[in-house]
Amino acid sequence: MVGPQKRLGQFFTPPEVARTLVRWVVTNPKQRLLDPSCGDGEFLVCHRRAVGIDVDGDRARTARQRAPWALVHEGDFFLWARELNERFDAAAGNPPFIRYQSFSGETRERALAEAAKLGARFNGLASSWARFLVATASLLRSGASMAFVVPAEIGHAAYAEPLIKALCRHFSRVHLTAFREKLFPDLSEDCWLLHCADFGGSTQQILLATLDTFQPMEAPPQNVKSISLRSWQSAGHRLRRFLLPEQGVALYHALAQAPGVRKFSDIGHAGIGYVTGANDFFHLRPTEAQHWRLPENVLRVTVRKGEQLGAGRVDQQTVRGWMANDEPVLLLNLRGVEPLPQRVREYLDTDAGQRARQADKCRRRRPWYVVPDVKTPDAFLSYMSGRAPSLVANDARCVCTNAVHAVQLAPDFDIVEIQRAWQSPLCQLSCEIEGHPLGGGMLKLEPGEAAEVRLPLPPAPLSHADQALLESTISEARRWRHYA
Ligand SMILES: C[S@@+](CC[C@H](N)C(=O)[O-])C[C@H]1O[C@@H](n2cnc3c(N)ncnc32)[C@H](O)[C@@H]1O
Repeated sequence: MVGPQKRLGQFFTPPEVARTLVRWVVTNPKQRLLDPSCGDGEFLVCHRRAVGIDVDGDRARTARQRAPWALVHEGDFFLWARELNERFDAAAGNPPFIRYQSFSGETRERALAEAAKLGARFNGLASSWARFLVATASLLRSGASMAFVVPAEIGHAAYAEPLIKALCRHFSRVHLTAFREKLFPDLSEDCWLLHCADFGGSTQQILLATLDTFQPMEAPPQNVKSISLRSWQSAGHRLRRFLLPEQGVALYHALAQAPGVRKFSDIGHAGIGYVTGANDFFHLRPTEAQHWRLPENVLRVTVRKGEQLGAGRVDQQTVRGWMANDEPVLLLNLRGVEPLPQRVREYLDTDAGQRARQADKCRRRRPWYVVPDVKTPDAFLSYMSGRAPSLVANDARCVCTNAVHAVQLAPDFDIVEIQRAWQSPLCQLSCEIEGHPLGGGMLKLEPGEAAEVRLPLPPAPLSHADQALLESTISEARRWRHYA
């Protein structure tokens, strides 16, 4: 069962962060402050004329005890917002970060309707917090400000686009502060602070401040990069790349224009590998395959995890190593196998087979035991990576699960040349720019992001200065995703 931390996005703001955000938005004691997801009341204790709401009754009760002067409602913020006529002078808080998978049902529908009031059209993949912010803005008086803790995803998620556009249409100042050291070290989610001032105005600029660590502040940091909506749009609506040193990014763009530099989508395609629906059943160890006397032609050696990808290539020697360690790397691949050999039928009829056929994915396909999309790629690409994504040649003609990307090269491209280009600083920086951080220092490269990665074919020699600049920009990008 999912606990309230995940289901309701409950993690609580340290008092000094809450105090800072309230200070940013409340300019006189008479103002009415709203916290749309007040939890234990950390923001409500900072201001006498405060109104809070939380869907969790226990939290709302604690908030009432901690801030007896505040008006604390228990219930769904979006339902409450829909019925409300009052408008607020300020808002501050820390909205719940509930992934779209869990943010469902009526609450989600109401959230969509509230967000649409300010013209923000989110698709179904938006996390809850973005809609909380837009719905809160719609409850402000003209001239009011709001300040929130936001996930650093605001710097790259697709749904940040409608959010930031809506904020820029309705506030004169939209200001983000990013921190090199994590704002909440115990949380895997990286967080920034958002301050929007003067509701009713509009702006064509996003202001971005970068700080090493959080310190209590009277006002949002003044030292900012001013990013026009146009340049944000040209950067794919991703603010993250504006965190990097300007010179390094300018050099990257200049080098990316050079003849011979190709997009990954020009040289091939990175797609997802197969999904079995019952991994333990469909993947056997060599000793298990022997035990069931499964014929060789129904087994394919597979890459199940990114960790299997060593340096450079998966070849016969790599495969021999997996087999000698008795790793569960043999996929039961029954596409086109007719009639099923007796031994296979016996294996399908085992207790494990009976359980596997009940699995969601297996129940939905015919026949349940044929795993779809089993392909033999030219190479594998790790899609969750520490230092950098690895591109590994598939010399052993293995298959792969969706734990790695399956790379199919276009005709006339040679994997060795592509791998050489992949190691170049230009390409490594490109991965940092096109990919996105996943928490825990990891970089994630989705198929659509991999398609945009630039490869110099062949890598041009770089001056020492350019090489050093690209490398320091890569290090800075890794630092921003907290890769140690
Ligand atoms: C990230 S916590 C922040 C709590 C508090 N503002 C703080 O910063 O310490 C988010 C809060 O949102 C509440 N919440 C989740 N969904 C809600 C909804 N639909 N309406 C109101 N509150 C909700 C959760 O119960 C949780 O207390």
